Amino acid sequence: MAWNPEVYNQFKSERAAPFYDLLALLKIRPGLEVIDLGCGTGELTAKLADKLPNASVLGVDSSAEMLDRSSQTGGSTLRFECIPIEEHLRKPQQWDVVFSNAALQWVPDHETLFPQIISHLRPGGQLLVQMPDQPHNITNRLLAELAEQPRYAEVYQGWNRASHVLNLDRYAEILFECGSKSMQVFEKVYPLVLKDVDALVTWVSGTALLPYLERLPESLKDLFLEDYKALLSKHFSKTPVFYAFKRILMEATF
Ligand SMILES: C[S@@+](CC[C@H](N)C(=O)[O-])C[C@H]1O[C@@H](n2cnc3c(N)ncnc32)[C@H](O)[C@@H]1O
Repeated sequence: MAWNPEVYNQFKSERAAPFYDLLALLKIRPGLEVIDLGCGTGELTAKLADKLPNASVLGVDSSAEMLDRSSQTGGSTLRFECIPIEEHLRKPQQWDVVFSNAALQWVPDHETLFPQIISHLRPGGQLLVQMPDQPHNITNRLLAELAEQPRYAEVYQGWNRASHVLNLDRYAEILFECGSKSMQVFEKVYPLVLKDVDALVTWVSGTALLPYLERLPESLKDLFLEDYKALLSKHFSKTPVFYAFKRILMEATF
């Protein structure tokens, strides 16, 4: 999927807020070996590395467009690799910390993925993950609904972006089943205050809209955006637009 760092970074501070909440849950020790799954541009991976004394931090991401920027922020203990998360998890490496901010919602089958990720943690290791609570976020639900309208369904041929995100309590159960010694699993609303619905479309166009648009012919893209805006306008009829964007945060030690 083609990511656009310019569009993604238009809401830099809004997108960084949950990262800092996740970072605050990190148990800092010297000399940690850390992996950041789906590190994006690597700017926040650099902030993670800054917090850690004598750490070795590896950021992995499958998007060359996002990683293109990483060299601007990379320090001596910070490396990046352009590789899908699923492929990297097939390597036998062990880590003290697996960190992932706003990325695992793109990777399917969390029932298998989370145990697999946890199996890469050393004893005493910590997992830290943040993801949007897609099934409960209206911007995602309306996209899925629009894709089922006949003129788009004809193009998508049964495709729709299924949400991979599970319920909060299921993540807690998975952490327990994988032998966690302690955990914090919670949902938090990140209030988004935007000028109007156009700004909300721009917010979504940095992430969730991408797989829908890239599957449409040029002739349908503007129409899809107009229809999506109309659906959003019914829901967000006041200005400024207030959107209670929900995210799941979790940390556990093993
Ligand atoms: C919303 S961005 C978050 C980036 C960064 N963690 C941050 O907080 O700014 C999601 C990132 O996940 C990456 N991603 C999605 N699916 C992936 C996969 N299967 N393997 C590797 N990276 C993936 C995308 O390329 C994108 O850079």
